[in-house]
Amino acid sequence: MQNKIGNRINEDAALTEKALQTYLNEDDERIPFLFDAMRYSVLGAGKRVRPFLVLEFCRLAGGSVEDAMPFACALEMIHSYSLVHDDLPCMDNDELRRGKPTTHVKYGYANALLAGDALLTYAFEVALASENVAPALKCEAVKLLSSRAGAKGMIGGQQIDLDSENKSIPIELLKYLHSLKTGALISCACELGCIAAGMDAQHPLRKAAVEYASLIGATFQIIDDILDVEGDEAIFGKPIGSDAEQGKTTFLTFMSVPEAREYAAQLTEKAKSLISDFDGSDVLCDFADYLLNRNK
Ligand code: IPE
Ligand code: IPE
Ligand code: MG
Ligand code: MG
Ligand code: MG
Repeated sequence: MQNKIGNRINEDAALTEKALQTYLNEDDERIPFLFDAMRYSVLGAGKRVRPFLVLEFCRLAGGSVEDAMPFACALEMIHSYSLVHDDLPCMDNDELRRGKPTTHVKYGYANALLAGDALLTYAFEVALASENVAPALKCEAVKLLSSRAGAKGMIGGQQIDLDSENKSIPIELLKYLHSLKTGALISCACELGCIAAGMDAQHPLRKAAVEYASLIGATFQIIDDILDVEGDEAIFGKPIGSDAEQGKTTFLTFMSVPEAREYAAQLTEKAKSLISDFDGSDVLCDFADYLLNRNK
């Protein structure tokens, strides 16, 4: 990506990659595969959407990228674990992720399960690593991470998603499942950035961040569903047609691709309008457009 937002995404992704490498550099020869499988699942690819949101909301809230980085890495570990488990045969049964064989194809089912578990638990240690963030703020961050990743957040959404396979569900339930399986970690990202900057929950920017997150989170999953139908596997890095194969209910169960794109475009405009009055929010407005127009 050569444009301004593309450069910023690449810069933040490079910083995140470096930090993730540092956190994931452990080895123990008595524990075969585990550390390799964790690195394989996290490093080297991934758009780093959630770390970008952590870092950029921290900047917008007046904080420093260094202070936010442990939160960004913790969240990316949780997100990466969710992908490892999501791809397992008992869930979406996919064999391609981030342009490479999925973790269970490379390391076996049990090792993939364990690598996911280890990433999830390690994330909380990493979230507490920030040296300049006050202990009370770290506690707030860990509580948020745990609730957004858990039964009332991402996992809850994954359960509805599985339970809705080969069934007709109302669009309201689909929107709710999207808000959990995808929206919960995206809103967690935006709030973690504000927390790293020491901004309290009542601050207008933090409230706007939560609403912006809910709109771009919905857009994000709609575009994911569209790319699952008409994306280019070599660019998307995931199998095309997986949702249909698993009998998933998606936005395209209810509307055509142009209608879904139009709906996502409306959500994106609203998301941008919520933050555009805050000085320096142009990066996050451009990012919302990037998420709408992405092809990977
Ligand atoms: C994929 O997330 C899972 C969804 C919530 C749709 P991403 O599209 O952010 O995946 P990576 O991290 O770039 O591989
Ligand atoms: C899963 O949604 C979101 C997660 C919590 C992992 P999908 O199942 O649509 O994600 P992809 O398409 O496999 O990345
Ligand atoms: Mg899934
Ligand atoms: Mg999947
Ligand atoms: Mg998908």
